[in-house]
Amino acid sequence: MSEFKISKRLCTAASYVRDGAVVADIGTDHAYLPIYLALNGKIKSAYASDINVGPIMRAKENIEKYGLGNLITTEVVGGLDNIEKIAPSDIVICGMGGELIVKILESSPYIRQKGIRLILQPMTHIKEVREYLSNGFFTIAENIVYEDEKLYQVLCLQYDGELHPLTDIEKELGKMNIENKTDEFMLLLNSTIVKKQKRLEGLSLGGYDTRKIEEEIKELEKLK
Ligand SMILES: C[S@@+](CC[C@H](N)C(=O)[O-])C[C@H]1O[C@@H](n2cnc3c(N)ncnc32)[C@H](O)[C@@H]1O
Repeated sequence: MSEFKISKRLCTAASYVRDGAVVADIGTDHAYLPIYLALNGKIKSAYASDINVGPIMRAKENIEKYGLGNLITTEVVGGLDNIEKIAPSDIVICGMGGELIVKILESSPYIRQKGIRLILQPMTHIKEVREYLSNGFFTIAENIVYEDEKLYQVLCLQYDGELHPLTDIEKELGKMNIENKTDEFMLLLNSTIVKKQKRLEGLSLGGYDTRKIEEEIKELEKLK
């Protein structure tokens, strides 16, 4: 195990990358994730891309510092544009908003091939991400990470072309997370209930119909 340390959030994402993978880290910024994977001998090669020049300069510096230029290539490019030429088996997108992640995935036919693995850590709009993925991708693993007083959901899915319908609660919290009921899940559940209760108060004060949100809170309380 290398001494190179990364955040718990990125470490969880890295744990879902398959041994011997050709991995693409989209929106890599500092390239910590591919560097960590390469130093631990986990991958065949990596591609670290970012839409901005600054992050790729940072990534290049870090890659050189660890002498990994032969294993990790970099490129300034948006999303999954021209990803076919890299032909990654595992695609990581961490630390971006969920709506942007969906936009990036939607615009790439490459990801819809059997065996392609997606490892995603949306910062927002997790429901929209799971909704999009429920058409064509099955969940291999998912987890919730608590770090720096924040909760992060990390998803690992693979393409099979089938429909995998989810309830609204499953889209928000994750079917596997609900089954696994980790301590982090309980934290996420409680904070979700608190947020919805606040919304309920607001709706109620404004004289709006609160039946839907009351029902959602009731369903969430059952998961405790
Ligand atoms: C908050 S950083 C996340 C860095 C790293 N993936 C992580 O999770 O620690 C988001 C990065 O995504 C990049 N980015 C934003 N939109 C992008 C897009 N459409 N395609 C590729 N990279 C993008 C930004 O330049 C930034 O470096």
